[in-house]
Amino acid sequence: MTIPAELDRHIDEIITHYPPDKKRAAVLWLCHLLQDHFGCLGEEQVKWMAAKLDLQPINVWEVVTFYPMFTQKPRGKFHIKVCRTLPCDLSGCGGLLGHLRKKLGVELEQTTADGLFTISTVECLALCGSGPAMMINDETFERVTPEKLDTILDRIRTTGKIDAQSLPAPLAPHPLEKRVLLANLTKPGYTGSIADYEQAGGYTALRKALGLKPEEIINEVKNSEIRGRGGAGFPCGMKWSFLAKGTGKPVYLICNADESEPGTFKDRQIMQYDPHLLIEGIIISCYAVGAKVAYIYIRGEMPQGAKILLNAIEEARAKGYVGKGIEIYVHRGAGAYICGEETGLIESLEGKRAYPRIKPPFPAVVGLFGCPTVVNNVETLANVPLILKNGAAWFKSMGMPGSTGTKILGVSGPVVRPGYYEFEMGKLTMRQLIFDVCGGLKDGKTLKGVIPGGSSMPVLKADQIDVALDFESLRKAGTMAGSGGVIVLDDSVDIVEATLNLAQFYAHESCGQCTPCREGTLWMEKMLHRMHAGHGRPQDVDMLYEVADNIDGKTICPLGEAAAWPVKAFVTKYRGEFEGTCKKNGGGHGH
Ligand code: FES
Repeated sequence: MTIPAELDRHIDEIITHYPPDKKRAAVLWLCHLLQDHFGCLGEEQVKWMAAKLDLQPINVWEVVTFYPMFTQKPRGKFHIKVCRTLPCDLSGCGGLLGHLRKKLGVELEQTTADGLFTISTVECLALCGSGPAMMINDETFERVTPEKLDTILDRIRTTGKIDAQSLPAPLAPHPLEKRVLLANLTKPGYTGSIADYEQAGGYTALRKALGLKPEEIINEVKNSEIRGRGGAGFPCGMKWSFLAKGTGKPVYLICNADESEPGTFKDRQIMQYDPHLLIEGIIISCYAVGAKVAYIYIRGEMPQGAKILLNAIEEARAKGYVGKGIEIYVHRGAGAYICGEETGLIESLEGKRAYPRIKPPFPAVVGLFGCPTVVNNVETLANVPLILKNGAAWFKSMGMPGSTGTKILGVSGPVVRPGYYEFEMGKLTMRQLIFDVCGGLKDGKTLKGVIPGGSSMPVLKADQIDVALDFESLRKAGTMAGSGGVIVLDDSVDIVEATLNLAQFYAHESCGQCTPCREGTLWMEKMLHRMHAGHGRPQDVDMLYEVADNIDGKTICPLGEAAAWPVKAFVTKYRGEFEGTCKKNGGGHGH
């Protein structure tokens, strides 16, 4: 096996992004690079990586076999991955997939005879508001119709390559929005370059921060009362103050950009349209918590996002913002949803399978490479420059007590205007969001329900939507604000099928570490398949709920709850549909 000198040099440079005795952390990057070059990862590539990183081959194999983006078998020159997760399913990905199979004459995971195309399904690509979504190699495509797909495939056959896709124009704001994080997006001619960002007042917060003591920055963030925007809603300033002091070890900051909760596509907008807002937020946060190195862990299926960030970091380096005391590296994931969980992410960043850790100890005490570590979401960190520039009082003047500031929401499903929107927290109800902002349901349909904060959050029924969109109001309504991914369901949605779709997602994404989650998610998927295929038994409805209940709260990480909550909520709120499916199909034919 021969590695081109340029690739070898690139790999050596990547390895320097990690401490000299932690070279293993580079393994995901190496897997990506070698797979891009050789088409797959076989014995030779694995042995080469093991030697390069001072590992045993088994250490590399465990990574290759864990992450869905890596393959041991060669694929076609163009790997077409169609998103199959609920929001894309609601926008017609099933028909698209059928069309693709027929057109190419191959089934899933097969390659066309000419070696050009392999087709697969993929889980949520964080393009839920513009589905059906798909990727071909590193390029993403939105609103893909069968006709559009035909054109793309014909063009590939003619040219032998895939055209680079440009970013869609940013969405114009709705009058009910309050854009502060997304304020730059629609400024005339704004490109997200460092020149544009500085012109818009960017990096002034950093200059202000450098004149303050780190504790003063932490206090300002604490006083803003900003809660984490990743899903759990933990107060950011408090998280920072938990960092272990005086350990003599370095402190790390990790930006969690592994946006992969179905229905969620907010962080993508910040990274791709205004990357310097995030970079500035990371630099200020590093200074505040005493970190000299930050890693942006970006999900593997966002290669364009990774490129944009790498370019932005180099722009910031040229201006002296990065590289003089604080370094930022981009670390690519490889298709595992579990990496969104902070300790799974840390394991993954260390170059291992993303098995979440038992807490305590929390990352603030024992995190990356055993050192104190802060893990913050993209949207949370992007708020930091705004808080520093305008003050905690300004931030608190938006939203409401307990839910300060704004929140970016992504709306998917059959509404007239799906997309991303930024609002003051608590100032809008779900009804206003669906009917006033998004224009109501398409095609004269009526509302059946809505998932308010990413697919793991319990569904709200159509008569529960007069709830304000903030942490506390949604909690009182029996659900959570979660990641801000709003999935709308109309009256044509088959709830059993929708629940099955989500159960498939969580069964696919369980890391397999905890028995209740590993086995339970598969059982739920199997039972829902049985119901949906016409072999449900009347007792299956209670059994499905019971299995979900036996996962809930019994796992190391929150993936167990994420899998159980939607099932429990769907069964409770739409029980008649589950029972109807079992009765309608006669029951008693369990497989
Ligand atoms: Fe397809 Fe999110 S991009 S469900």
